[in-house]
Amino acid sequence: MSPLNIVILAAGKGTRMHSNRPKVLHTVGNKPILGHVLDCANSLNPNKIIVVYGFGGETVKQAFAQENIIWVHQAEQHGTGHAVQQAIPFLDADADTLILLGDVPLIDAEACRKLISQADNKLAILSFNKADPTGYGRIVRNAMCSVTAIVEHKDATEEQHKIHEVNTGIMAMPNVHLVQWLSKLDNNNAQGEYYLTDIVAFAVNDNVPVVVEITADEWSVTGINSKMDLVQIERVHQSRIAQQLLLQGVTLKDPARLDVRGELICGRDTEIDVNCVFEGKVSLGDNVKIAANCVIKNATIASGSHIAPFTHIDDTQIGENSRIGPYARLRPGTTLAADTHIGNFVELKNAQVDVGSKINHLSYVGDSTVGKNVNIGAGTITCNYDGANKFRTVIEDDAFIGSDSQLIAPVTIGRGATIAAGSTITKNAPADQLTLCRAKEQKSIAGWKRPQKVKK
Ligand code: UD1
Ligand code: CA
Repeated sequence: MSPLNIVILAAGKGTRMHSNRPKVLHTVGNKPILGHVLDCANSLNPNKIIVVYGFGGETVKQAFAQENIIWVHQAEQHGTGHAVQQAIPFLDADADTLILLGDVPLIDAEACRKLISQADNKLAILSFNKADPTGYGRIVRNAMCSVTAIVEHKDATEEQHKIHEVNTGIMAMPNVHLVQWLSKLDNNNAQGEYYLTDIVAFAVNDNVPVVVEITADEWSVTGINSKMDLVQIERVHQSRIAQQLLLQGVTLKDPARLDVRGELICGRDTEIDVNCVFEGKVSLGDNVKIAANCVIKNATIASGSHIAPFTHIDDTQIGENSRIGPYARLRPGTTLAADTHIGNFVELKNAQVDVGSKINHLSYVGDSTVGKNVNIGAGTITCNYDGANKFRTVIEDDAFIGSDSQLIAPVTIGRGATIAAGSTITKNAPADQLTLCRAKEQKSIAGWKRPQKVKK
């Protein structure tokens, strides 16, 4: 097969988005629309990808700075044919070209492969049947059912308006023909634009066979023009992810109330309750349970761990059989070993907690190393920040920190040490001893009266 060039048309303004952000940078599943199209393009192993951009140019380029893309600027948008003309200097004479649209995020690579497989000596077009074809280019066929032309809605006759088979805009053809056809385009039509679709009639004229693949998956060829389209496509994208997870054996309490904005990998017998959001790369082991209303980003949660409702997890690794939440917040840099318990209103940041340790209530543990089988009582705070610099707290194995203690970093609590409740610890506490640091005496004042409210 010939080498493959892919041209992605993405110069449109996207006026109906009513946004300062270029249309192709709006996101589906937290990835720019154009990013989805590029994923599809890359999966087809092209020898080059050319993106025709216009509106909001520099920001679009910046968003894909890591990608190997040839950027072609279309300063004024004079139509899809004009857009492809801008790419001519980069088209390889011996290659075929696949045209994709930058605003069609759910584009199906399999359908593209079918077009490409025909493009060696044919013009291959992807079409679909649209209940309301208003606005679309119609696929016009003769009595033999062969395609003779694509006619744009605004140029179509009343008779042609009745055709429901429409052009997706996605097509493939040999460059030898494409370049020649592009040179023949004119703008003598209802919109005064250079229509790429006019090449169909040229192909018929040149006896180059025109083949049409009809897709039944309308969403995979739906372009985004408004926020309404965007939210519909988002739901379709999410429901497809949910379906895939269900097919793999994941239990979703309600597939309509799951959002995966990145990549979610699940083991066997994973259960996910409603309204959970997964961002970035999240990996859940076997028998992991995620309760309702959790937000989990860039995390690994090992087998057998349970995450209770309303827990936030960001950039954190959780070992096997741990119990987290409800209402826990695990911030970046946190690693929990197996069998750890993190309870309600506990915030961990850059904390490494070893096997079997428990921080069950109302604590802040940051920039800390916590050993094995440590128990950190309710309301314990590691004071890691002096207003300018951050310091570490080290709590060694088997230590017990009494409730409402403050550990003022840098400080080390020795192995097996006990800190009495209510202590403010400023110096290292030795192993195996009880360390107290409270007000010296407990006083009671007889006859003391509570303050009264003053009448104004
Ligand atoms: C085009 C097709 C139509 C098809 C429809 C599918 C033509 C003439 N018409 O319609 O047959 O049914 O797509 O949605 O090709 N673009 C540019 N530069 C331009 C114009 C467009 O880059 O000068 C890009 C847009 O950003 C968009 C794509 O091309 O990604 C399609 O443009 P759009 O205006 O949405 O499609 P139509 O021309 O209405
Ligand atoms: Ca206190």
